[in-house]
Amino acid sequence: MTIVRNKDLTAWNTFGLKVSCACFVEYGSVAELEELWKRNRDGLGLPETGGAGDGTAFPSPILHIGRGSNLLFTKDFPGTVFHSDIKFIEAGGESCGITAGETAGDRRTDVEVGAGVLWDDFCRWSAEQGLWGPENLSGIPGETGAAAVQNIGAYGVEAKDFIRMVKCFDCITGKVVAFRPSECRYGYRESMFKTSAKGRYVVTSVCFSLSSGPNPKLEYGNVRAAVDKALEDTGKSLTPALVRDVILSVRNSKLPDPAVIGSAGSFFKNPVVPRSDYERVASIARIGHSDDCQVPHFDTGSGFIKIPAAWLIEQCGLKGYRDGNAAVYERQPLVIVNLTGEASPEEILAVEKKVSDSVYSKFGIRLQPEVEHI
Ligand code: EPU
Repeated sequence: MTIVRNKDLTAWNTFGLKVSCACFVEYGSVAELEELWKRNRDGLGLPETGGAGDGTAFPSPILHIGRGSNLLFTKDFPGTVFHSDIKFIEAGGESCGITAGETAGDRRTDVEVGAGVLWDDFCRWSAEQGLWGPENLSGIPGETGAAAVQNIGAYGVEAKDFIRMVKCFDCITGKVVAFRPSECRYGYRESMFKTSAKGRYVVTSVCFSLSSGPNPKLEYGNVRAAVDKALEDTGKSLTPALVRDVILSVRNSKLPDPAVIGSAGSFFKNPVVPRSDYERVASIARIGHSDDCQVPHFDTGSGFIKIPAAWLIEQCGLKGYRDGNAAVYERQPLVIVNLTGEASPEEILAVEKKVSDSVYSKFGIRLQPEVEHI
């Protein structure tokens, strides 16, 4: 366990903002987390607390982070940042709480992954084992625990699609509990860990149900075409490793590498709007264009339409828009970047406001940030 006062968080937020926290605590096991909780019974993890416990005061508020890949620190954090360094990848059903008769057959493998494992390390491991599941989510920055909180998604797959169980430390009872995906209230980049149960549970590990039989998900955008091309070019067969390689090259062509240009991936969610709002967007888009101007969209059924925020932002002429050290990424306008590495939180917030206000004034749609503001 490590406890550091006045820690620089530049390496702990993928925006690369130069912010700090009053205290940083890293634990390596559930037992250490329990120990921390006992020292701090007033409610470790509950955002409004952070009591002195046995005299080792953890300044409040308390914030659990993964790799800070979906966070925007709007200023220095006055409280304590907790980070899980629980790292293991373990294949085998028993630890995932599977009982006889519940397994999905011999072509599935259950794998338990510690919350502190880098998400992409898990994706690489799965591909190397020839197991299908997370390959479309390759290259997403962040850690496994946060992936289960955020229900990360890309290229037609969401983490919830192959999560079997989320194991958590309950900061109220001090006990370890396990939730099935149906109990986690998963939605588009949503879960109870971000909403109704925010601050109560700390994810300690996640159990995934992976498939050893072929199970490619290639329907999103140009993924199938890119996979077909890779099959032809390499002469290899269709494996999770091949799909992973294709996904990584698609991502690299569109998204900034956080090791080079700071960002938090998509800054906004894609808005899901009633059909009437979509019709309004379509009629505004037609102004000055031909009648067959198409608004890209995805019909969710149930009367709601998802419109790509990237398209709305591009229509406002903001692709590549720059204000000081912060900018709208030129290749994917859903991403706000720390262009020079010197951006302040205020500069990122100013670009956020510019994008949000521009889309609202042109289309009447208020974009919701995906990135959590701290
Ligand atoms: N588009 C434009 N202009 C652009 C880029 C995209 O108009 O410059 C439009 C196109 O119509 C395109 C559509 O936006 O077809 C969708 O673009 P893309 O496939 O790049 O996906 P996205 O909806 O912008 C989402 C996720 C990404 C994920 C990709 C791929 C959200 C908020 N973002 O972006 O996730 O990688 O799909 O599946 O849902 C993240 O969450 O940090 C993230 C990067």
